[in-house]
Amino acid sequence: MIQWYPGHMAKAKRMMQDNIKLIDVVIELVDARVPLSSKNPDIDKLANNKSRVILLNKYDMADQRHTDAWKDYFEAKGYFVALVNSKSGKGVKQVREIVNKACEEKIARDRRKGIINRPVRAMVVGIPNVGKSTFINSFVGKATTKTGNKPGVTKGKQWIRINKFIELLDTPGILWPKFEDPAVGIRLALIGSINDTIINKIDLALDLILFIHENYPDALKKRYEIEVTDPLEDKKDAAKVLEQVAIKRSCLLKGGEPDLERAANLLLDDFRSTRLGKITLECP
Ligand code: G4P
Repeated sequence: MIQWYPGHMAKAKRMMQDNIKLIDVVIELVDARVPLSSKNPDIDKLANNKSRVILLNKYDMADQRHTDAWKDYFEAKGYFVALVNSKSGKGVKQVREIVNKACEEKIARDRRKGIINRPVRAMVVGIPNVGKSTFINSFVGKATTKTGNKPGVTKGKQWIRINKFIELLDTPGILWPKFEDPAVGIRLALIGSINDTIINKIDLALDLILFIHENYPDALKKRYEIEVTDPLEDKKDAAKVLEQVAIKRSCLLKGGEPDLERAANLLLDDFRSTRLGKITLECP
């Protein structure tokens, strides 16, 4: 995953500013497990005056109750929202309808000007790893043709004709994650969006244990068949849980001590592959 430093960020921002001028509707992907932490707030300024669609992607991995609440939350803010599993394709079809709906006003405006049947132009945006490429592949499907360069369009840009009504810019806009707030950083690290090598895995696993125990009290007991005594006050208490996980899963050092690093990896892996259940890390 990309390490974000100011140079990178400035470049991504410039690309976004250039591309956004060409489009009518922004299709913004967020991760349904962390819809706010995976959303870059700067996009609101960049996408000012554009129709806005939010896709709660990877909803197959998220807690449905919260996903529904997030849908309401974003709709109340004026977005058109869809739940999508880009990997399986579930929900992808309805995105066409939603894009059309989001652009109804623009289509009506065009019509008043005598412009009929001009497709709306869309761009997919999102922070790294939210599923942009997977979504585009699924959205585009097979039955489409690239339309190539057009007058008035920056050279080299490819538009993919989705249907009579929609054209999609073939390259997604990469937004930079905002993790100045440590809690946001932790959530992005938990879903695997921040390079693991720069993270203290044990610390991250302890954060996860505290969160899961509070919000999904049975998940750890069920997965690892361990006793988790209430309440877990702090990371020290969480470390005791991690120790139990290590012992149960035979993650042991040479002297027979629990190998917390390995146990942490195992736990994070289990979380990221939903073996601990469908867990959403933030609620509206
Ligand atoms: P990006 O372009 O935004 O950077 O993301 P990309 O499409 O590369 O997707 C990142 C990872 O998320 C991929 O997994 C992809 O398969 C997975 N993914 C995307 N959308 C969904 C979804 O709706 N549900 C689920 N469960 N997963 C999704 P990967 O581990 O990098 O690759 P792979 O193991 O799938 O091959």
